[in-house]
Amino acid sequence: MKVVVFGQGYVGLPLALAACNAGFDVTGIDVNEEKVFKISSGQSPIEDIFSSELNQAINSGNFRITQEVKYDNTVNIICVCVPTPLGNNHQPDLEVLESAVKDLGQSLKPGMLVIIESTIQPGTTRNVVIPILERESGLSRDQFLVAYSPERIDPANKKWKINNTPKLVAGLTEEAAQKAKEFYSKFINQVDICESLEVAETAKLLENSFRLVNISFINELAIFCQKIGIDINDVVKAAATKPYGFMPFYPSVGVGGHCIPVDPLYLASAAKEAGAPTRFIELADQINLEMPKYFVGRANEILGGLKGKKVLVIGVAYKPNVADVRETPVATLIEGLEKAGASVSWHDDLVKTWNSQTSVPITDQYDLAIIATPHDYIQLSKLGNTPLLNTRGSK
Ligand SMILES: NC(=O)c1ccc[n+]([C@@H]2O[C@H](COP(=O)([O-])OP(=O)(O)OC[C@H]3O[C@@H](n4cnc5c(N)ncnc54)[C@H](O)[C@@H]3O)[C@@H](O)[C@H]2O)c1
Repeated sequence: MKVVVFGQGYVGLPLALAACNAGFDVTGIDVNEEKVFKISSGQSPIEDIFSSELNQAINSGNFRITQEVKYDNTVNIICVCVPTPLGNNHQPDLEVLESAVKDLGQSLKPGMLVIIESTIQPGTTRNVVIPILERESGLSRDQFLVAYSPERIDPANKKWKINNTPKLVAGLTEEAAQKAKEFYSKFINQVDICESLEVAETAKLLENSFRLVNISFINELAIFCQKIGIDINDVVKAAATKPYGFMPFYPSVGVGGHCIPVDPLYLASAAKEAGAPTRFIELADQINLEMPKYFVGRANEILGGLKGKKVLVIGVAYKPNVADVRETPVATLIEGLEKAGASVSWHDDLVKTWNSQTSVPITDQYDLAIIATPHDYIQLSKLGNTPLLNTRGSK
């Protein structure tokens, strides 16, 4: 069986390699020349995939990557894992997805199965993807198969990997759903079929909106705890002893990455369109966006003014133990500190270079150190007696 995966990023590359390891013949397609060069020369661009794993797949002869968006008519399954970001006005932007679907539609042949994994609004597979496929291929929807299967990759998660994280699938038809289930079941332990494409699309948005809302709630509560002189982490730890009806979430400088700050706004936008606005999501988004400003205020308080002060921000990736800076709230934190007159340096040896700047060593030569993203490797002892502001909760 031949599989093509459009988009070889955090979602597409692990999927391609898992399918290759399960015996499929896999071609990864990506429009980013640098990424294609890196992957084809055996260097993994993401933390969760070791270069040795990638090389093993390349050497098996069953995995290759190309920039060529065409594929031949012996391909059985085409997966789409391209970005679905927010565009202007913080609104969903489907341009990249539409362009990838257009490209894949041109090589589509009867009987092929197309599976969309990118996060999208309910109704997008049926009302946007399928019409493009029909137009570009000249086929009608009953001549090919379409499924939606939201990805559940959690970068740097040591326990939940692609194989042991249950996967949802939904098909335009029963046959499409069954074929998609058959495919994923070759390398994923549990695959569940949803009632419709829209149920699977909305389930993904619910998962990430649930996280956004709860993280923002804990962040709001962290501000309260700080005011009354207790540590939010102690409160969460205490509450988490309850064996039912509670799930712990932890404080931060806000949410980042390609999913939690983005996907809920796909849901909010669809909800607004349907005349049933999701006020929780909008409020949660607002609270998280305000967190960096809150910590600039705390830094200002600690130092009695930020003008001319040397501040070291520790960790700029959006979450611990990854090098990903997409949508990182630390960017807004640094911007706020600089606006208030501080001279800001940052340390993050996973990210290394960012915004044309380089990670600096951790030393005791600063007026204040702010822990933004605590990677496991970071040694705070190098700060000596430098005053510390921990965005991850402390009094
Ligand atoms: N990374 C996650 O943990 C995560 C979590 C939740 C949801 N998602 C969703 O998964 C989808 C993919 O995210 P990702 O993190 O893998 O993104 P990514 O940016 O890591 O990878 C996407 C890749 O697609 C490539 N691409 C762009 N246009 C293309 C085209 N027309 N044809 C072929 N390749 C193209 C890009 O060059 C890039 O390498 C998004 O919808 C995202 O919202 C990701």
